[in-house]
Amino acid sequence: MNKERKLIVAGNWKMNKTVAEALDLVRGLKLELANVKEVDVVVCPPFTALEAVGKAVLDSNIRLGAQNMSEHNVGAHTGEIAAVMLKEFSVRYVILGHSERRQDQKEADALIARKAAAVHGAALKPIICVGETLAERQAGEMQKVLETQVRGSLAGLTGEQMEESIIAYEPVWAIGTGQTATTAQAQEAHAFIRGLLVKMFNETVARRVRIQYGGSVKPSNARELMSQPDVDGALVGGASLEARSFADIIKNSI
Ligand code: 13P
Repeated sequence: MNKERKLIVAGNWKMNKTVAEALDLVRGLKLELANVKEVDVVVCPPFTALEAVGKAVLDSNIRLGAQNMSEHNVGAHTGEIAAVMLKEFSVRYVILGHSERRQDQKEADALIARKAAAVHGAALKPIICVGETLAERQAGEMQKVLETQVRGSLAGLTGEQMEESIIAYEPVWAIGTGQTATTAQAQEAHAFIRGLLVKMFNETVARRVRIQYGGSVKPSNARELMSQPDVDGALVGGASLEARSFADIIKNSI
């Protein structure tokens, strides 16, 4: 597929996989994806499997991501994980502001923006998630919600940092439901987000930022989604938990 931006497909394993299971999965992925160069491939295991998976992917084209990070660098923050700790395990990417954390941990845009600053401060790349709920979409508020989230979560980033950031558009109603957004719905939201980046930064920055789609991505719908001009990859949940389906999503995207 001839794309303006290099595709980036990331697997968000969420709260799945023990160390043994994670190693099993990553062994399978290394075999399946050994020759893939056209797509940036990232896996995001739970914190407890980062060290093992980080070692396992060192000699491969697979990069490592974390699912969250503290806004603080060190100190009295029980249960939190700092950038320097992630870097020990060769982490390159950090998912921020996933809708499950926005909902369960009440993460707000301002906190996500501070975390994004910390991620860049450590020379890591954030994958910043945004997306509307079904009720918001049905109320005709998709654009309003996306604008608030994008402006709030990216507040304070420089143009240079923005270019090194990834945005994941994940409509909440499509996550884990099997109900994927149509290609038209995905393209419309992605184009809207890119338009916001033009206003917040400039044309050049907006053209360089990769925007992933997330929400029930499967091998069968990956090609169609990725063929949209403003869809630059995928953030995959359920289908990333099995080597064959994650690899097929990547192969079908090329
Ligand atoms: P599913 O692919 O399971 O719908 O999850 C998407 C997601 O939330 C990725 O971050």
